[in-house]
Amino acid sequence: MTTIKTQRRNLAKSQAHYQEALKHMPLGVSSNFRYWGDEQTVFVDHGKGARLWDIDGNEYIDYRLGYGPAILGHCHPDVDAAARAAQPVGTVYALGTEKEVTVAKLIKEMMPAAELVRFSNSGTEAVMAALRLARGYTGKDNYVTFEGSYHGLFDATMWTADPDDMKDQSKDPKVITYGQGIPQLVRQLFWQVPYNDANRLEEVLKKNHDTIAAVLIEPILGNCCGIPSKPEFIKAVRELCTKYNVLMIVDEVKTGFRVGKGGAQELYGIEADIFTVAKAVANGYPISAIGGKEEIMRKYGKGVAHGGTYTAQAMSLAAAEATLSIMKNTDALERTAAYGKAMQEGMGKVLSKRGIPHSFTGHYSMSGLFFSAEAPTTYRNWKLSDYTFYDTMAGYLIDMGVMCEPDSREPWFISAAHDQKCLEETLGKFEEAVDLTLEELSKGRDTGEQKLMPGISG
Ligand SMILES: Cc1ncc(COP(=O)(O)O)c(C=O)c1O
Repeated sequence: MTTIKTQRRNLAKSQAHYQEALKHMPLGVSSNFRYWGDEQTVFVDHGKGARLWDIDGNEYIDYRLGYGPAILGHCHPDVDAAARAAQPVGTVYALGTEKEVTVAKLIKEMMPAAELVRFSNSGTEAVMAALRLARGYTGKDNYVTFEGSYHGLFDATMWTADPDDMKDQSKDPKVITYGQGIPQLVRQLFWQVPYNDANRLEEVLKKNHDTIAAVLIEPILGNCCGIPSKPEFIKAVRELCTKYNVLMIVDEVKTGFRVGKGGAQELYGIEADIFTVAKAVANGYPISAIGGKEEIMRKYGKGVAHGGTYTAQAMSLAAAEATLSIMKNTDALERTAAYGKAMQEGMGKVLSKRGIPHSFTGHYSMSGLFFSAEAPTTYRNWKLSDYTFYDTMAGYLIDMGVMCEPDSREPWFISAAHDQKCLEETLGKFEEAVDLTLEELSKGRDTGEQKLMPGISG
């Protein structure tokens, strides 16, 4: 487990605020994953571009970006101006507005499989709606997910291969819930198969396709080091879904409008039956979308329920229009990827100079750093690796003002606002953090088994 250092920063205000927050909110935060310890939990004052400032005035280069959304950088002036300009429209009317069609058209232009679009508010809501649609359309209840994937906080998807049951790689790990409160009854409805293993998927589909509505896949494991689908694997998933008459739901909540204008589907040259996008759609304003083939999507309203009081809220729609237009018409995503590439090269040089084996996973805009010469291709691979180095190093980096994710399973997110100054500063601090890590680990490596929480970002 990462111990976040507090040697260089003064966190007095955050610590005092935490004590106050704790009186009113469980763990003092609005998401379990924002709690980093009684002394280390940070509260944000504001962000700008690739940086954020905490309430003590500590400055960080942000590589978490709220788990991905701030693709253009925090508080992008054009996006925020568009959202402000939409404020006079009002909030919610339980009626549609014109801007919904404008944004739906933009998504259709950018994402090949989007013959029709519906909006929701969050990634979780979109995936819930996509799964319900698949069940309604096919008349089947069951589904398949992959080890190491994350699809949001709802009962159907809050199941994961137990990271503490992966020592014996010849057998499948237990599938456990993300914490309490998930009915065991749900376990009867799904299969979870290893990622990048089309044979295992085919075994399941061959035997059970009569009951399976959908295969739910993250094209890049955005909550597991950014492990990417091998191109032949995701193409096989597409073919197997078609062959066995099962819908392919591609969850692009993290990859959509990040790894390319047309998301991972464009990158891999595949088309989903149904897909979901969320995080980068509006640079952090709450909106998500479900897109897909017309025949399937038209089931909404013809038997399948979809809606919600806050769907397609005016300010989020305006922010989405501005964000998507920038991504469509500028080189923002190319610049984002170029930064990620330069950062990997710089980190690689630092590590090679010290003879530290390493590899990178994922897309340049959302990549995992891995301390082994070979990058993992499955969740099980990741578990076999030594992530102590990452965990220790992340503790130093955050203290130095490089806000990376303390959990090695979460990728580093890049925005179009990360610039040369960020890069030089990051690489300088990275070098320092690597040396401090080497020094700390040489004093006595903690080889004890670590109890892991399932990887999650919400
Ligand atoms: C692939 C994927 N799907 C769904 C979700 C859930 O999204 P949200 O946190 O907006 O509910 C996430 C969140 O990280 C995700 O990465």
